[in-house]
Amino acid sequence: MIDFKKEIANILNEKISELDFEEIYSMIEIPPNSDMGDFAFPCFKLAKIFRKAPNLIAKDINESIEEKDLFEDIETVGAYINFTINKKTFAKTVIEEVLNKKDMFGASNIGEQKNVIVEFSSPNIAKPFHIGHIRTTVIGSAINNIYKFLGYNAIAINHLGDYGTQFGKLIVAIKAWGDKSIIESNPIPELLKLYIKFHEEAEKNPQIEDEARMWFKKLEDNDDEATELWQWIRDVSLMEFNRVYDMLGIKFDSFAGESFYSDKMPAVLEEMREKNLMKKSEGAEIVDLEPYGMPPALITKKDGSTLYITRDIAAAIYRKKHYDFYKNIYVVGSQQNLHFKQWIKIIDLMGYNWAEDCIHVPFGMISLEEGTMSTRKGRVVFLEDVLNKAVEKTKEIISQKNPNLEDKEKVAKEVGIGAVIFQELANNRIKDYVFSWDRTLNFDGESGPYVQYTHARAASLLRKSQLDYKSNINFGLLKEKEAMDLIRIINKFPDVIVDAARKYEPAVITRYIIDVAQAFNRFYHEHSILVDDEELQKARLALVFACKQTIKNGLKLIGIAAPERM
Ligand code: ARG
Repeated sequence: MIDFKKEIANILNEKISELDFEEIYSMIEIPPNSDMGDFAFPCFKLAKIFRKAPNLIAKDINESIEEKDLFEDIETVGAYINFTINKKTFAKTVIEEVLNKKDMFGASNIGEQKNVIVEFSSPNIAKPFHIGHIRTTVIGSAINNIYKFLGYNAIAINHLGDYGTQFGKLIVAIKAWGDKSIIESNPIPELLKLYIKFHEEAEKNPQIEDEARMWFKKLEDNDDEATELWQWIRDVSLMEFNRVYDMLGIKFDSFAGESFYSDKMPAVLEEMREKNLMKKSEGAEIVDLEPYGMPPALITKKDGSTLYITRDIAAAIYRKKHYDFYKNIYVVGSQQNLHFKQWIKIIDLMGYNWAEDCIHVPFGMISLEEGTMSTRKGRVVFLEDVLNKAVEKTKEIISQKNPNLEDKEKVAKEVGIGAVIFQELANNRIKDYVFSWDRTLNFDGESGPYVQYTHARAASLLRKSQLDYKSNINFGLLKEKEAMDLIRIINKFPDVIVDAARKYEPAVITRYIIDVAQAFNRFYHEHSILVDDEELQKARLALVFACKQTIKNGLKLIGIAAPERM
């Protein structure tokens, strides 16, 4: 697409060889109102170079410019050269780009298929998949989509919490009080009950703690019975998690969780000892991180067992060998900031310069507004319940707004779940936020339903017209301010995606989609689309299409469907 600012900088650079391109580029301003053109170049700084008054310099440069096609007008006002872009050329390039690329509008190949690992979601098996997990799940999935769209080979990994001493406890509890068929009918809540029961019993009879340790040891030694039970716990847990991933439309390339690294640990520990990083401390092994202003990292316990951090070190080393990643991204809450700083430092101390390619992408906490959800058991709010409730509530709203809608079930799912995702990604990830139904399901506010509704409105306009708006369009007719504003915003989409990737921040896209929707609604409000003048109607429909496509592509990146009707 035409980058007008770059074109202007190029033109000026030919006239002002004393300054380099970057400097000229950075001097170009966007005037406060469009009467003064779309871009302005101030000549004050040139007075010293040319030894002339700035307004004369402006005049001379302007007179020498030959390129006129891209600009409607190039005017000298005092010391400024004001450029007004040729609206027709601009509208044509932007809209034709969207018409040609369609679902790929905004995509690029800057990633050159380099491997980027995006690790996200990573719940602990046998534990509830609760509302707190939504953040890592949808932020991570959006980052994964964004990197893919930019031509990286993005690899989505779910680093399941499927290993550790707690599985010894669960095995003891299942053997003592569990009933497989009851557990299978309602896995996570039943396993949670057993886990709680274990702790209650252990208060009375501490001996079962030893039993639990023994069972975990058996698991580590690949004992058949232990492995089989553990595998079963993992399978039934994944069945539940997968139900939620399906609802969210999220797929992983790998479920290599903590257990995957258990047999890769000894070599890593050996390497750390060889590199003189480990210190003995009361039988345990630690890495001293005091010189880096951090508490020591505990790597092995005195019984020799490994920890969460040990598995993260082994996982990173494995991933580098296996994927030779360009970036290894972890979408994990900010409570774990220290954990990530510690182990990434350890990777660095091991002499691996790719430590800097391991990137922790933290986020703030979600809390629920009073009365948002009643809880099933205990105080946990299951994510699945929130999603189901969102769909239910949406169904009610749709039944009122559009009782004759076909496919109501499907649309309610797309809108209800989309609404939750959109809310989740509406603010910068690092901010804590409070979940509220009113904000999430508000069809008029800055919400998912609002944006989807705008998309459906555009779709309906395109359906209603018989005209072919994909060829022979007179782009010169799109000259109103609202049309131009919309085209300018659409033109930004490719840069917005790059910005979101660079910042690991899906909210950049979310906010952008709102801008597009609002600009569309201003245009739609001021100008009829299905006018009698067919040439004008076609031009406006082409713009409507470009806008609809941009919203659709943006929503897809953040994991939300764009229904054609709602
Ligand atoms: N399972 C962990 C939890 O629920 C999150 C794992 C994060 N990823 C990692 N590589 N440490 O807290």
